[in-house]
Amino acid sequence: MCGIIGYLGSRDVIPVLIEGLKKLEYRGYDSAGIAIVQDGELRIWRSSGKIANLESQVNGLRVGKGTGLGHTRWATHGRPSEENAHPHRDCSGKIVVVHNGIVENYLEVKKALIAEGHRFTTETDTEVIAHLVEKHFTHGLEEACRKALSELEGVFSFAALSAKEPNVIIAARNGPPLLVGVGDGENIVSSDVDAVLAYTKRILFLNNHEMAIVTQSSTRIMTFNGSHIEREPETLRWNPIMVEKGGFKHFMLKEIHEQPMAIRETCYGRVSYDTGQIFLEDAGLDSDYFRQMRSVALIACGTSWHAALVGKFYIEQIARIPCEVDYASEYRYRRPLTNGNILTVVITQSGETADTLAALREARDLGSRVVAICNVSGSMAVRESDGMILTHAGPEIGVASTKAFTSQLAALYLLAHFLGQQKGTIQPADSLQGLHELARLPHLIEIALQRENEVDELARRFFRASDFLYIARGINYPIALEGALKLKEISYIHAEGYPAGEMKHGPIALIDEDLPVVVITTNRNLASKTASNMQEVKARGGTLIALTTDDEPDTVSDHVLRIPSVSDLLSPILSVIPLQLLAYHIALYRGCDVDQPRNLAKSVTVE
Ligand code: AGP
Repeated sequence: MCGIIGYLGSRDVIPVLIEGLKKLEYRGYDSAGIAIVQDGELRIWRSSGKIANLESQVNGLRVGKGTGLGHTRWATHGRPSEENAHPHRDCSGKIVVVHNGIVENYLEVKKALIAEGHRFTTETDTEVIAHLVEKHFTHGLEEACRKALSELEGVFSFAALSAKEPNVIIAARNGPPLLVGVGDGENIVSSDVDAVLAYTKRILFLNNHEMAIVTQSSTRIMTFNGSHIEREPETLRWNPIMVEKGGFKHFMLKEIHEQPMAIRETCYGRVSYDTGQIFLEDAGLDSDYFRQMRSVALIACGTSWHAALVGKFYIEQIARIPCEVDYASEYRYRRPLTNGNILTVVITQSGETADTLAALREARDLGSRVVAICNVSGSMAVRESDGMILTHAGPEIGVASTKAFTSQLAALYLLAHFLGQQKGTIQPADSLQGLHELARLPHLIEIALQRENEVDELARRFFRASDFLYIARGINYPIALEGALKLKEISYIHAEGYPAGEMKHGPIALIDEDLPVVVITTNRNLASKTASNMQEVKARGGTLIALTTDDEPDTVSDHVLRIPSVSDLLSPILSVIPLQLLAYHIALYRGCDVDQPRNLAKSVTVE
């Protein structure tokens, strides 16, 4: 994640930008910079490292009222360094851009711009935006940004400023949050409410595919294709917790909506989309090790264990390597037969789960090489493992794990391709199609998230249920388990996940009109088999809620939730989204404490 700040008003602009960046530092702090317009010229200061380094450069400097942009960076493209720090400028030095997210097609756009004579000075994808705006700068900044947006792909937001139009900032959102704090004679563009609440509580939140044309005294909101949007600012209650939630009601909801970025950032820097190669240097798995490795053991708890169940499909179907899955809380009590030929991968969001740490130690003591897939870089699991694959989901505060889970699945998908390539069971080129689909998954998740109202409607119908059954086959069976866990841990409704094929061996006795049955049938390879199970439920008067893809007809279910079409292997990452939202909204209707459910803790550090 990165942090964007912009200011137009009568205050001294430099302190406003610096203070705003400090409030956004949690979003990333490997480099930072500011740009202001003064006497028709752009002045830029940038530094690597924390905001304090930048502040020391401008300490005491006062330039009076003005317009400016600031940025604090979490590097995705290009090393954390001063030259890669934002703001980035065009050839003329008259246009600057700050950006959050990833411009996916930056290489081809950069190549075309270079062919047209543009000169680049950094390795970043961001700089492409500045030159594209320059290219289209014939009738002003607004139109130039709109035209630039039509050529960019990816999940990103940016703000742009030109010395030729010193009284306007353009802010465009296509993924990461971006908003405008509407002050009295001043306006502040920011990634998060934290940086604006010192000046105003009136907030205009931008939605995806919207841009704001911001002056000192006005804010116009348009769609990317130029349609005007009428929107009144929201007035936030003074609530520090709300502030941290970036305007979302709960951390869990914020984190559900952060999943596109979490997956992007987990994948970034690890994939060559040209050759199909995977780079997992921190995993510490060199070619010598692969000569001895024969199989994989995935060990975890709770939601992370559900990720491990999906990981087994990835490792066996992609890499064709045998893979076992274990509950960490069971592993060390069954005298596991592990050794130096088995790669043990512990999966843990917190990196502090006692059972998982104990299993990690047991595996290592028995000679197995251990790698941690973890979301917290400084955690025990990372420190005690031989290697790591960090998920870059950002801090996950809600007790119910969401963005960490889908980031774990993305990491496991990359690991499977990596293992297959290292063992020679697949060539990098064989990975390309799947990796390109993974790269597009954040877009598809955005689409699934935009259907939240349909899920909320379903939650309103079923929140009084006392039991739920979730069923699925194949790679989505772990998602049936995960959907059930999400529901039970935040709404306290008893919910069970079950293999759909196992229904007839007992659970079908539970079916009646009071038992909502959620059937996940998004993996085409078993859709016809699952259809029979759906008929069995209906024949016994059950209430059927199908989760299927946009292109699948459904004439038998009572309710249908849909996700965009996706390959079977990647369907779990998309299927879980509506189930996370269903659990969230049902818990809300039941008045439950979504972020801190009873009896639970974010990290179970006791056995
Ligand atoms: C998931 O929503 C729960 N909070 C819980 O099952 C969690 O996944 C489990 O405790 C494992 O935590 P970890 O990933 O931090 O090890």
